[in-house]
Amino acid sequence: MKHLLTPLLLCFLAVCAHASALDDIVPRPAKAEASKGSLRISGTSIKCDPAFDAATVEAVGRFAARLGYASGKTSPVSTPPGLRDALAGGKVKGIVFLRDGSLAPEAYSILVSKRNAVVRASGLNGVIYALETLRQLLPPSIYGSRQALKDRWTLPCCLIEDSPRFAWRGMHLDSSRHFWSIDEVKRYLDVMAMYKLNRFHWHLTDDQGWRIEIRAFPLLSQIACWREGTMIGRDFSSNDHIRYGGFYTREEIREVVDYAAARGITVVPEVDLPGHMLAALSAYPQLGCTGGPYAAWTKWGVSDQVLCAGKESTFEFLEAVLAEVAELFPGEYIHIGGDECPKDEWKKCPDCQARIRELGLKGDERFSAEQYLQNYVTRRIQEYLATLGKKVIGWDEILEGDLAPGATVMSWRGAAGGKEAAARGFDAVMTPNSHCYFDYCQAEGCEGEPLGIGGFVSLEKVYSLDPLEGISPENAHHILGVQANLWTEYISTPEHLEYMLLPRLLALSEVQWCAPERRDAARFLRVLREHEYPVLEEAGYNYRHTTD
Ligand code: ACM
Ligand code: ZN
Repeated sequence: MKHLLTPLLLCFLAVCAHASALDDIVPRPAKAEASKGSLRISGTSIKCDPAFDAATVEAVGRFAARLGYASGKTSPVSTPPGLRDALAGGKVKGIVFLRDGSLAPEAYSILVSKRNAVVRASGLNGVIYALETLRQLLPPSIYGSRQALKDRWTLPCCLIEDSPRFAWRGMHLDSSRHFWSIDEVKRYLDVMAMYKLNRFHWHLTDDQGWRIEIRAFPLLSQIACWREGTMIGRDFSSNDHIRYGGFYTREEIREVVDYAAARGITVVPEVDLPGHMLAALSAYPQLGCTGGPYAAWTKWGVSDQVLCAGKESTFEFLEAVLAEVAELFPGEYIHIGGDECPKDEWKKCPDCQARIRELGLKGDERFSAEQYLQNYVTRRIQEYLATLGKKVIGWDEILEGDLAPGATVMSWRGAAGGKEAAARGFDAVMTPNSHCYFDYCQAEGCEGEPLGIGGFVSLEKVYSLDPLEGISPENAHHILGVQANLWTEYISTPEHLEYMLLPRLLALSEVQWCAPERRDAARFLRVLREHEYPVLEEAGYNYRHTTD
């Protein structure tokens, strides 16, 4: 009896151990079933269907290189013809990647047996997510840069079938208030890719600095990218008098776009207009209502000085800028900001008032004539971008007035903008500041936290977001997805940036990826402690180590 029980018990424990490894994947897969046994993969061969494109084979190659180094045994990648037939004949060992056109673009499956692991996906994104899932099943040393020869390089036998809940799984970065080098941006993209995010919203312009080279307006990267110092701490009357600036060249922008694309991430550039434009006005004062002089702001907050909506030269400027932006960023969307545009200057400006009269704009009980004027700016820019084959996305203020069909709304002042957008037939991305503002503190009252803008968004709060709450089922298809925003007024070092991002990004990833019934806060917190903190440690990221 004893002899019979022991193998049975061991077998049961082995399946349990695998079940637990499968439950430690973040974001949690839609379906993950353990079976008995495991597959050794150090030194195993990796074969890719020749039907995959070069970018997909390269992604597999990066995984193989890392696995080879960490495990100390190289894993050669090949694209052999006849792979399918060989697999059907039961002859193939190792890890096999097969193109399966019947799967949705971001879906994948992994079937691990004692003989081989077979991954199926229709293209790059599905394969990338399968690779990330495989990494999550391996020892955390797969994320580091050291050799870990003694680690157990095996995969548990299992079947995983997975696809995301939302198509837009975004993370934003403010490069205006503080400037992040290309290498820092790449590290940001790396951790986004680890958790299967697919949109990088890059905030490139604001009152405190313009960060993208535009050939038609060279002073943007000679004057507008500089500010004469920065306020110290929370003292709005102070200035450290240290000249601060930086911008990305066209080549650097292309490098980031390509780096992101190779990791399944589309970059959504933001040129915030018509407000948040003081830095641009410092270089081209004729575009303002008063003509200046202007200087990029040295303090945080929102400047009253905005682009003049009455002057044609403003539209010539915006069109030239956006034409170059459209050329550099191949994604379908350009973010045009639209938030927090004070109207005081427009009320006083003869050109803006003449435009209001010419267009016959009138205030009503809901909106002022100047709000309708902003609506006119949005509409003109939207029409122009459509001629370049681009769609417009903007902060929820663009809903004020008569938003033209086809625009997408980013709901940041809570979820109200997203609800209204969906009800009015617009697509929306949910990024409510109540749950998705990662510049807010991670502890109540900011107790013990680094200097910050205030607010409080705990890890648990991020995890608790229901993006479809209050949205009627017939309008749910308008909610494209979820994104978190990281404004950087009070964040000036990469260590602080990562601390604000992590581990909240991991909670966000489950909100974005998992169906509601697959989300479980208690499980998530356990996995964070037992598996993800070691992963972040190995990958060298700074993160807030929650003890609660
Ligand atoms: C915003 O936070 N002003 C979009
Ligand atoms: Zn004006």
